[in-house]
Amino acid sequence: MNRYFVAGGTSGIGRQCTFELLRRGDEVVAIGRGDEHAEDLRQSVPASLRPLLTVVVGDLTDVATARQVVTAGNPGPVAGLVNSVGCISVGGIETETPERWKSTIATNLDSAFNITQALLPRLRQSSGSSIVNVSSICSRRPCESLSYSVSKAALDMFTMHLAKDLARYSIRVNSVNPGVVKTNLQLGSGLFEDKAAYERWLKEMAALHPLGGGSVEDVASAVLFLLGRGSTWITGTVLAVDGGRAVA
Ligand SMILES: NC(=O)c1ccc[n+]([C@@H]2O[C@H](COP(=O)([O-])OP(=O)(O)OC[C@H]3O[C@@H](n4cnc5c(N)ncnc54)[C@H](OP(=O)(O)O)[C@@H]3O)[C@@H](O)[C@H]2O)c1
Repeated sequence: MNRYFVAGGTSGIGRQCTFELLRRGDEVVAIGRGDEHAEDLRQSVPASLRPLLTVVVGDLTDVATARQVVTAGNPGPVAGLVNSVGCISVGGIETETPERWKSTIATNLDSAFNITQALLPRLRQSSGSSIVNVSSICSRRPCESLSYSVSKAALDMFTMHLAKDLARYSIRVNSVNPGVVKTNLQLGSGLFEDKAAYERWLKEMAALHPLGGGSVEDVASAVLFLLGRGSTWITGTVLAVDGGRAVA
C-alpha cells in the first residue's frame, strides 16, 4: 500500500485518479475547493474503501492552506502527487479581464507550486516518488482562452524544471496533456448557460479529435502509468492524451 495526494481529487480527472488508487488499495488524500464535490466523493466511495480516503476542502492558491493540507491523512512517506486542480476561462488579449487572467493563472499554476513545495519533504521520504501534473493540449495549441493556454504552457515548464531539480532525490515529474473530456471544468467555470449547451459543445469537440471523444478513464490511466513502477525511467515528459488532437 502506498499513500498519494490528489489535488483536485474531488472532481473530474482527479476524482477518477482517486477512485483508481483506492481500488488498488492505496491511501489517498483528495483535495478540492468546495464542499459539494467533496461530499459527493465521500458518499460515492464504497464503504470498504472509505478508511483509505481522506477528503480535504481548501483553496490551494493560498500558501498557508497548502501547508496545512499536506499534514492531512496518516503521517509518513508519500509516494506520489497528482496536480489536477484547474479552472478555465474564455477570451484573448482584447477581451480577457485582468481578474479572470489572475484567477486562472493562480488556480492552474500557483496551486501546483504551493502544494508541490509543501509536500516535498514527505515525497522525499519515499523512495522513487512521482509527481504528475495535469496540463492540457492547450499548452502547445492555443485554445479559446489566453490565460488558460498560458497557464498550461507554464505548467509544462514547471514539470520539466522540477524533473531536472528533483531527479537527485529520485523523484520523477511528468505531465499528461489531455484533450477535451467530460468533467465539471467548463460548467463549473461558467462557460455554458446549461448542460444541454455543454453536451452540444462536447459533441462538436469529439469530432475534432481524430480518435473521437475521450473520457476521464483515458486520462487517469495515463496518470496512473506515470505514477507507477512501469515508468521508473520516465521524467520530464509532457504526454499528450488527446486522441490525436494535437496533431490534427
Ligand atoms: N476536462 C477537460 O476537457 C480537460 C482538458 C484538458 C485539461 N484538463 C485539466 O484537467 C485538470 C482537472 O480538470 P477537470 O476537467 O477534472 O475539472 P473539474 O472536474 O472541475 O475538477 C477540478 C478540481 O480542482 C478543484 N479545484 C479548483 N480550484 C481549486 C482550488 N483553488 N483549490 C483546490 N482545489 C481546486 C475542484 O474542486 P471543486 O470541484 O470543489 O471546485 C475539482 O476537484 C485541470 O487542470 C484541467 O485544466 C481538463
